[in-house]
Amino acid sequence: MANVEIAGLTKTYGTFRAVTDFGLSVRDGEFLIFLGPSGCGKTTTLRMLAGFIEPDGGQVTLGGRDITHAPPHRRNIGLVFQNYALFPHLSIFENVAFGLRRRKQPEAEIRKRVTDALELVELGHLGDRLPKQLSGGQQQRVAIARAIAIRPDILLLDEPLSNLDARLRLQVRDELRNLQKTLGITTIMVTHDQEEAMSVGDRLVLMRAGMIEQVGTAQELYYQPANRFVADFIGRTNFLSGAAIGNMFRSAGGASLRGGRDMGAASEIMIRPEAIRLGAAEAGGGLNANGPNTLPARISHFVFLGGAIELGLTLEGGERLAVVASPAAVRDAGIELRADAGVTLTISPADIIAM
Ligand SMILES: Nc1ncnc2c1ncn2[C@@H]1O[C@H](COP(=O)(O)OP(=O)(O)O)[C@@H](O)[C@H]1O
Ligand SMILES: [Mg+2]
Repeated sequence: MANVEIAGLTKTYGTFRAVTDFGLSVRDGEFLIFLGPSGCGKTTTLRMLAGFIEPDGGQVTLGGRDITHAPPHRRNIGLVFQNYALFPHLSIFENVAFGLRRRKQPEAEIRKRVTDALELVELGHLGDRLPKQLSGGQQQRVAIARAIAIRPDILLLDEPLSNLDARLRLQVRDELRNLQKTLGITTIMVTHDQEEAMSVGDRLVLMRAGMIEQVGTAQELYYQPANRFVADFIGRTNFLSGAAIGNMFRSAGGASLRGGRDMGAASEIMIRPEAIRLGAAEAGGGLNANGPNTLPARISHFVFLGGAIELGLTLEGGERLAVVASPAAVRDAGIELRADAGVTLTISPADIIAM
């Protein structure tokens, strides 16, 4: 079992607390993501797990074994970093074989494991080449092959895709995801890219300033953010300030919106751009003239992106809302796509989330 238990992990540089009281359980076979803005402590935490940084406090156990102070080579961890760090003078085969030779594996075993690992990343035919003869994406796949060749208990990856161009990044990302599921290796990957995190992670650990803000699936973080920081970091969000009474929220601009539940004393709500449905402007006007949670608004700008239309709307009270709509929905609702055109918008109570 390669479940990892992390408790109270702390690292201080001088008086600066890079990581504070970091604790969580990583399940066997899980693909976990450390996500957060630059400088929030992702790399420091990962390197403490790998054994390259000595924590000031806390404990790490791997499959029940305390590895908090074990040297890196005693942890059986596979590592992949942002810059592929292949040995330029060694062939691809020998790069992948490196960890196995250090572990003094028999030659036949090395051949088999390297061949298997290169096959897994679909580079079996390039073993004789030198790193410089491979593309960036291929080099990073070699780095992944090298990490898995030692059959690690856990795989730690620090921004492994960030040096790849956009198209390759998507491709290697999907390959990594499939490989991880095939092998079932407990994996922790660091990224600052929320889309990357959401697309590969079983669970996301969102960090800020050395601390964990929330741990959960992409959907949990998206629909049930623990706080404003999480709501803002994951996806795009509208915030409206105002005051709640029971399940009703009245915005500072005078819009009344009914939520799906009691909102306590919330002074702010969030609404995702794609949760706002658009309709044609209706005669009569006035706030809530068209029924509950339906408001008149004006288009202040729009961007046609082919598969989606992004709009900025202004409510009668002056508040702004970003909306993402499907072109088909805009057409079928009979909306005139023009700056300053009137529309109505409707938001389901379930999509009104108190902050
Ligand atoms: N060796 C060090 N000495 C002093 N400060 C450091 C050192 N390493 C990292 N830090 C600081 O700790 C914080 C977290 O760094 P890091 O873990 O690399 O962040 P991330 O990977 O999330 O971008 C940053 O503010 C960084 O400047
Ligand atoms: Mg980092």
